[in-house]
Amino acid sequence: MDAVLEAYGLVKTFGALRALDGVDIRVPRGKITLLIGPNGSGKSTLINVLSGVYKPDAGKIILDGEEITHLPPHERFRRGLVRSFQIPRLFSGLAVIENTVYARYGNPGEGVISGLFRRKWLSFEEETARRAARYLGITKIAKLWSRKPSELSGGQMKLLEIARVLMPDNPKVILMDEPTAGVNPTLAHEIFQFIRSLRDRYNLSFLIIEHRLDIAVEYVDYAYAMALGRIIAEGKPREVLENPVVIDSYLGG
Ligand SMILES: Nc1ncnc2c1ncn2[C@@H]1O[C@H](COP(=O)(O)OP(=O)(O)O)[C@@H](O)[C@H]1O
Ligand SMILES: [Mg+2]
Repeated sequence: MDAVLEAYGLVKTFGALRALDGVDIRVPRGKITLLIGPNGSGKSTLINVLSGVYKPDAGKIILDGEEITHLPPHERFRRGLVRSFQIPRLFSGLAVIENTVYARYGNPGEGVISGLFRRKWLSFEEETARRAARYLGITKIAKLWSRKPSELSGGQMKLLEIARVLMPDNPKVILMDEPTAGVNPTLAHEIFQFIRSLRDRYNLSFLIIEHRLDIAVEYVDYAYAMALGRIIAEGKPREVLENPVVIDSYLGG
């Protein structure tokens, strides 16, 4: 497998809890990879460690052949590792369009970003605005461009989060934590179709945590299942979903 992102032996503890208990994962290039598992199995923690939000207690992370284990989040971002959050992190005082524009330069809240933004704003203004308008259009929230995040529904916030992960200049691999949570099934299908079109057009790679397995399974190329901080199955999506060990883990077995 040609992996765009790899991790080996990842351990992350919170006090006595081993949220990641020796995770090996390889995210194939140019494919959509699904990450499933019951609540509390460590899925979000894995994305937080891969994106650099949390430091692992042990293990190694490799992006496109280069080790990034000790790089801060904004440096991983600069190298093309982009993520969305389960609970979107937005500037509450800024409008939808501004939150989208900022995302070209990284995760809001990181001091590094505002400096970049000031320096580059003039030359990139037009291109950035065009791109932001396009992605807000594709995610069907363009008409909400002037609203503040507090005026959006949960579903609309997820759509804004998707528009935002598309803004960076050279994304290689996009990590998404429950991109369709809170949106209706029709829109969830459209979001996955859109993700597929991005895969095909830009050879982008995705690692997606998703609870709506019935919808996701139609669109993804590969799957990993986690339970209790470990990978318990991987392979073709339907085979992983139907694996008795995976089914048992959802039943608390
Ligand atoms: N910041 C944190 N502090 C303490 N415990 C945490 C923290 N983040 C996650 N956990 C715990 O780690 C385990 C895995 O959580 P999480 O990765 O969010 O699971 P999932 O996303 O699969 O539902 C859970 O038991 C959760 O309570
Ligand atoms: Mg989670």
